[in-house]
Amino acid sequence: MLIRYKKTFEKIAMGLLSFMPNEKDLKKLQQTMKDYETEENRQLFLWKEEDIIGLIGVLFHDDQNAIEILHVSVNPSHRFQGVGKRMVKELKEMYADKEIISNKDTASFIEKCDLC
Ligand SMILES: CC(C)(COP(=O)(O)OP(=O)(O)OC[C@H]1O[C@@H](n2cnc3c(N)ncnc32)[C@H](O)[C@@H]1OP(=O)(O)O)[C@@H](O)C(=O)NCCC(=O)NCCS
Repeated sequence: MLIRYKKTFEKIAMGLLSFMPNEKDLKKLQQTMKDYETEENRQLFLWKEEDIIGLIGVLFHDDQNAIEILHVSVNPSHRFQGVGKRMVKELKEMYADKEIISNKDTASFIEKCDLC
């Protein structure tokens, strides 16, 4: 299930975020974490089964009634088992009244989820 990020999950969240191709630089990664922690229009969700194995990070565009997926990442040991698609599906169900959009960093996977 998707759970909201809390400070106690900082290390695991940073580890998962670092799998994004655009978050390889440590300074950039630290800034991204800070933005999620401080900006009210950003939210990180973590995917918890027995352990936390996935992450999805979003930006709320309230003026457009849309949610932009900025980050999506799954622990490499748990990939190709549907976790990524389940995270996107649950996010869509949580925000059924909003349009879920992607950006250049997440489009290729999110577009795949639309086809499911
Ligand atoms: C992308 C990612 C989150 C997918 O997680 P996952 O749990 O393995 O995904 P699922 O098992 O739900 O779905 C697997 C499908 O996604 C596809 N996929 C994996 N990475 C992809 C990518 N970067 N772009 C498009 N499709 C991708 C797989 O080829 C597979 O396709 P299939 O259903 O046709 O076989 C995971 O590979 C990851 O963490 N990658 C590193 C972070 C990253 O690059 N994120 C941005 C992706 S655009």
